[in-house]
Amino acid sequence: MRDVRLEGIVKQFGKVRAVDGIDLHIRENEFLVFLGPSGCGKTTTLRCIAGLETLDEGRILIGGRDVTHLPPGKRGIGMVFQSYALFPHMTVAANIGFGLRVKGVDRTEIDRRVRRAAELLQLGNLLDRYPSQLSGGQRQRVAVARAVVVEPQVLLMDEPLSNLDALLRLSMRAEIKRLQQEIQATTVYVTHDQVEALSLGDRIAVMSEGKIVQLDEPQEVYDNPATVFVGAFIGNPPMNFLTGRVRQDAGRLFLEGEGYQVPLSPEAAARIQAARIDEVTIGIRPENIAVSLTEPEGGGIAASVIVSELIGAQRMLTLALGPHTLKVTTSTEFLPPPNGQVWLTFDPAKIRLFDAATQARLAQLPKAS
Ligand SMILES: Nc1ncnc2c1ncn2[C@@H]1O[C@H](COP(=O)(O)OP(=O)(O)O)[C@@H](O)[C@H]1O
Ligand SMILES: [Mg+2]
Repeated sequence: MRDVRLEGIVKQFGKVRAVDGIDLHIRENEFLVFLGPSGCGKTTTLRCIAGLETLDEGRILIGGRDVTHLPPGKRGIGMVFQSYALFPHMTVAANIGFGLRVKGVDRTEIDRRVRRAAELLQLGNLLDRYPSQLSGGQRQRVAVARAVVVEPQVLLMDEPLSNLDALLRLSMRAEIKRLQQEIQATTVYVTHDQVEALSLGDRIAVMSEGKIVQLDEPQEVYDNPATVFVGAFIGNPPMNFLTGRVRQDAGRLFLEGEGYQVPLSPEAAARIQAARIDEVTIGIRPENIAVSLTEPEGGGIAASVIVSELIGAQRMLTLALGPHTLKVTTSTEFLPPPNGQVWLTFDPAKIRLFDAATQARLAQLPKAS
């Protein structure tokens, strides 16, 4: 087994609890992504797994073995840092093989494994070059090859693509995914880039202030954020939020706030009622709001267009709904009228409900039997 278990780990720097009690089971061969804003504790958590930080509390098990007090070299890990820090006076081959030489692996074995790692990362014809003779993307590949060559049980990567330009990031992202599938190492990957997290992760652990706020598969994190924070952090543009109170009108239920009322499904109303809260925050993604030029038959929500932007395959509208601002994506063919007046329909099945006070998602109601 090459799984990783974090049990109540805490790492404190003075008064800052960089890692504030994390419990997590990373499965064998899983690609797990830590996602969160800068300063939320991603790097520190990864460094704890690597053994580069000593824990204040908790323990870490790799493959069932308690490694809490083991030095990095004895943990069976390979690590790729954000700054790839290659040795400038060593060739690509020597850089990749460095870790094996330190361990005293014999020369023919080093040679074989360096060639294999170089092949995996398409560096085969660059082995005699020096880092200064490589492009940014090639250097990053050398850094990954150096981590892979030790055949780690667990591969740890800290924002490995953040120093590359956008196009290169895209191609390296696909390569990392392919590589991981090929070498089958349990992988922990740190990023603040939500697109990277969604595309790479088998599961995503969303972090905020030293804690994991949601641990789920990418689709679930995107569709059903556990908190307002997660919905706002993931998605480009992020989820829209409106806070209001539930009101009944002619047998229909609405969320009513300043300048709008949004129809709610009976199921949503029941959940709000079961939660016994006064104020509800609803979340809805920009692609789940339909926009039309005339009022739809079932009634719509009037809004006015502030900005209309072409963003490639879609158009993004910034809308005013009373004092609130919403982002909606539509087809590029949708052209807002000169007076800016449009009508919105929220897909009721896509409305997400949060407690306005705690910002946490409202619990699902148990299914009626
Ligand atoms: N060596 C250190 N000394 C003091 N504070 C640190 C140290 N490393 C990290 N921190 C603090 O711990 C928190 C988490 O940092 P970090 O793990 O680097 O976050 P992230 O990688 O998510 O951006 C931040 O508040 C940071 O300032
Ligand atoms: Mg970091």
